[in-house]
Amino acid sequence: MESPKTTNTTLITWVKEIAELTQAASVYWCDGTQAEYDRLCQELVVAGTFIKLNPALRPGCFLARSDVRDVARVEDRTFICSEKQEDAGPTNNWDEPAAMRQSLKKLFAGCMTGRTLYVIPFSMGPLGSDIAQIGVQLTDSPYVVVSMRIMARIGSRVLDVLGNKPFIKCLHSIGYPLKDGRQDVAWPCDPENRYIVHFPEAREIISYGSGYGGNALLGKKCVALRIASVMARDEGWMAEHMMIVGVEDPQGNKTYVTGAFPSACGKTNLAMLIPPQGFEGWKVWTVGDDIAWIKPGADGRLYAINPEAGFFGVAPGTSMDSNPAAMRTMVKNTIFTNVALTDDGDVWWEGMTNDLPTHLIDWKGKDWTPASPTPAAHPNARFTAPASQCPSIDPEWENPQGVPISAFLFGGRLSTTFPLVYQSRSWAHGVYMGATLGSEATAAADNQAAIRRDPMAMLPFCGYNMGDYWKHWLSMEQRVTNPPKIFRVNWFRKTSEGKWLWPGFGQNMRVLQWVVKRVNGAVQGHDTVFGTVPHYDDISWNGMAYDKATFEQLMSIDIDNSRREFEDQVKLFVEFGDKLPAELEAQRQAMLAGVNG
Ligand code: OXD
Ligand code: MN
Repeated sequence: MESPKTTNTTLITWVKEIAELTQAASVYWCDGTQAEYDRLCQELVVAGTFIKLNPALRPGCFLARSDVRDVARVEDRTFICSEKQEDAGPTNNWDEPAAMRQSLKKLFAGCMTGRTLYVIPFSMGPLGSDIAQIGVQLTDSPYVVVSMRIMARIGSRVLDVLGNKPFIKCLHSIGYPLKDGRQDVAWPCDPENRYIVHFPEAREIISYGSGYGGNALLGKKCVALRIASVMARDEGWMAEHMMIVGVEDPQGNKTYVTGAFPSACGKTNLAMLIPPQGFEGWKVWTVGDDIAWIKPGADGRLYAINPEAGFFGVAPGTSMDSNPAAMRTMVKNTIFTNVALTDDGDVWWEGMTNDLPTHLIDWKGKDWTPASPTPAAHPNARFTAPASQCPSIDPEWENPQGVPISAFLFGGRLSTTFPLVYQSRSWAHGVYMGATLGSEATAAADNQAAIRRDPMAMLPFCGYNMGDYWKHWLSMEQRVTNPPKIFRVNWFRKTSEGKWLWPGFGQNMRVLQWVVKRVNGAVQGHDTVFGTVPHYDDISWNGMAYDKATFEQLMSIDIDNSRREFEDQVKLFVEFGDKLPAELEAQRQAMLAGVNG
């Protein structure tokens, strides 16, 4: 055992206990240095987990191919083991914590035989920021160590800041002990026995059997959302599944906006938006692409930090057209997982280029040609890249105080009913707009596709009862004097013939600009049943031909569709029984009365 670089006795005792339980062959305390990172990457190459990409094309980059059974977060194996089941709520899996600990103990006994136990001290948020939190992850996966070095601040400097204070315990094993002569494989895991378990009261996470993404890089969804949401409830702040951007006007005024979107709604593209023609002098700065921790500041506003240090982005669909900033972020020092390998040692995925390469090695390591029936990259293939490499990264992104937030956006993927943008009439109305967020599950023939609800885009990430989470959201209004204004956006409305009404991507800048004008009191809003909307002339059409009739269609409110939508929302609300804040049902009733009246 390497000598511990800390006097934190809780940490030292815990590491010792886990080393004994798991029978790890050795214990290694990560220092977080470049030399350590380089050495581990080299070991991963030798082990066959990493393929070094062509340094002339992708310097410092590697490709990993996971086990085909270990390619995504596993929500059905994710548990919130609060003391009481009602505190996990109807949207989380729950088990009695003591029983769960017993089951996990059995799985962990001897599970690191023949492997190194890595100790990764990490800070979510700029080191020393009073919004930041410190965790320590114990893992037997060197892939996790190098990925965590991109996604969080890790190593000795974290131990220095931690001192003897408490920390979030994050225990992880891939669950592939090297015992009884068992040979290692390129992506060891135990897909049959996966568990991603959170103990909210103990501020503790135990994850077994997966080496992939949010199952294994425990700082991200497990700490920064599930555990942090509970801490935020207890301490009066917010942990949200939101990107953060700073919108700068030609005079240099910056307005910060955060946004929550369910998956496949272009959240990363919005976080790295490049203003279109007609917006010369405007700039969108990226603070974060996925998670925001938001705290009341002394001036009565809410301040947000991005707790992460890197992006773990979905590669397929990312291109120089859809997201040039993301493409430029991953030109170097990036770990790619489950993308395709080109013949010259570079990466490729569906949607990256219009022309298909004539030959690739696909994410399963097999030959691929355009005639192949399966995609070359897994649809959930990822790039893990340092945020500091993003060309639009905000100069303030590591400000320990965070950035002042003026607006919250909520947006789903909805082909009917919902206008391009509208603003809430009040804080409570805005919370209701977030709580009823969702995207269409499938396009239904009758033009009334079912909406899969994803409140605040937090459905798989809220570490406690969603009803209590809504209550917490409602209460945040009292904690500040100048709360952000709340908006719903929908880039995905279609005509009845199924054609997109809005081009999206960079053109979403026009909506962002209206939002900025609204929060700065620079434009009048117009009241509708849904909320406050722009008229055609309130949006800048510089550099874009978009006629008024199409805009009216995009913003139109169909009374029957709206009534059906507000009636449908009750299905979500009743799930929470008496945990549902009465205020939200009152908001729903008011919307119904609005369309009926
Ligand atoms: C993500 C997700 O990977 O939300 O960010 O699933
Ligand atoms: Mn996410």
